[in-house]
Amino acid sequence: MSAQAEKPVALITGASAGIGEAIAHRLARGGFRILAVARRQVPLDALAEALQPGTEVATLALDVSATDAGDSAVDAAMERFGRLDALVNNAGSGKFAQLRRTDEDMLDELIDLTLKAPFRFTKAAARVMQSGSSITYIGSTFGMIGGLNGGMYTAVKSGLVGLTRSAAIELGPQGIRCNLVAPSVVRTAMIEEYWNSEVFGRVNQEFTPFDRMGVPEDIANAVHFLASSEGSFINGQTLAVDGGWSTTKYLSKEAVLAKRVDQP
Ligand SMILES: NC(=O)c1ccc[n+]([C@@H]2O[C@H](COP(=O)([O-])OP(=O)(O)OC[C@H]3O[C@@H](n4cnc5c(N)ncnc54)[C@H](OP(=O)(O)O)[C@@H]3O)[C@@H](O)[C@H]2O)c1
Repeated sequence: MSAQAEKPVALITGASAGIGEAIAHRLARGGFRILAVARRQVPLDALAEALQPGTEVATLALDVSATDAGDSAVDAAMERFGRLDALVNNAGSGKFAQLRRTDEDMLDELIDLTLKAPFRFTKAAARVMQSGSSITYIGSTFGMIGGLNGGMYTAVKSGLVGLTRSAAIELGPQGIRCNLVAPSVVRTAMIEEYWNSEVFGRVNQEFTPFDRMGVPEDIANAVHFLASSEGSFINGQTLAVDGGWSTTKYLSKEAVLAKRVDQP
């Protein structure tokens, strides 16, 4: 067996952009072979070109919300590489809306993409993974403490914390670890339309006790740590990667001293 064939294999959903793309690069640098999944083939091809030279990579264009997507992706990993060591359930959307502005279509889309898909991918991965493997879910600090206009997005990301725990209990005895990484705001296409709004900037920057906002590589480093042997006794956990946003009740000096303005 060649040295390349011994390398571990990671299946990453939503790998063609933003946080998933950074995860693909980090895991490739960490010695993983990569199966990159998203709906659009062109950005997947661009990722495959850009990965560290020498990385063995396959791509699969599919909608993770499809009922058979988990089985199809895991089968593709087994056919191409013969093993699966890390699953990263990252694909998601930024559909935040207040409760009163959430319709049935949005409810279904969020549940299908954020809960049912990771559930099905977990079930599919569990049938082939060996002891020492890991599953990482990308949740959100909104799913831990809530967030302005979080609506159903907060609810499904909270549900993902529950899925992480039930998977950890069920798969832990097989030596498969399941953990969740919860980013706060990270500048990607998902939140681009909100980025320059004053409220969004204040809620995120002025509540973060750190001198910068998160970048996709911060999340990718946490995922790599959990998927590597260095995380080998970490199971069922939620790891916030947020500069302290979710745990500190921090307010910048400017925010503390600002004059209160009543809401219209
Ligand atoms: N950015 C943030 O501030 C932030 C904060 C907390 C949590 N998160 C979470 O982090 C994850 C990644 O977010 P991001 O900011 O990197 O988003 P992004 O830049 O919009 O990228 C989303 C990725 O998911 C793929 N995707 C979306 N829907 C899909 C579907 N139905 N089937 C297959 N692939 C799909 C997209 O590719 P295609 O369009 O080609 O399918 C793309 O590769 C999400 O779960 C998100 O909720 C993000």
